[in-house]
Amino acid sequence: MANNYDMTGNDIEEVLMSAEEIDATTTRIAGEIDRDLEGCEGKVILVGILKGSVVFMADLMKKIKTPVEIDFMKVSSYKGTESTGRIEIKLDLNRGDISNANIIIIEDIIDSGRTLSYLCEYLRLNGAKNVKTCTLLDKPSRRTVEFVPDYIGREIPDAFVIGYGLDYDERYRTLPYVGILSKSVYAPDEAK
Ligand code: IMP
Ligand code: MG
Repeated sequence: MANNYDMTGNDIEEVLMSAEEIDATTTRIAGEIDRDLEGCEGKVILVGILKGSVVFMADLMKKIKTPVEIDFMKVSSYKGTESTGRIEIKLDLNRGDISNANIIIIEDIIDSGRTLSYLCEYLRLNGAKNVKTCTLLDKPSRRTVEFVPDYIGREIPDAFVIGYGLDYDERYRTLPYVGILSKSVYAPDEAK
């Protein structure tokens, strides 16, 4: 076996978003983004936050009709299922002047809100003309800082989810749907 984890759904407690629901959601969000970008001046850059957003970003950008550029940033704050609370930029935008850029940050999920509020402030301080945020999933009950994204796929309850780009210690990213990870995988004692 190439990998030491289960890809057949046994580690999933519940499917939260099926591939079909995700497809309808990316279509809806792409439409909202196109509508909001009408008449917009300056270039538009979708900035995906590595690695969790890549699957969502790849699907979403194919459905956006307005010309956009893409770029990526990488930040870290998580270990396992818990945030360490400290945000570190591991990979920055590789461009000089962003003062004519309308940036839409693409994220997989918002939990405490720290990552996106930090990144919005960072890009604004670096002179971006406009910064908006788009997330596939949102766990509003988990906020430690106030943050409201511009585009949301779906609000979800407080559970640790995986699939469609989202991982648990680098596993499960390639699943085509979003599911709640079974507690028996990360807290076997509690699950009993
Ligand atoms: P925040 O800064 O607490 O809002 O954290 C956002 C980041 O935490 C996301 O980009 C994910 O990488 C990670 N994260 C938060 N909740 C989950 C989850 O349920 N599954 C997988 N990753 C998560
Ligand atoms: Mg992430």
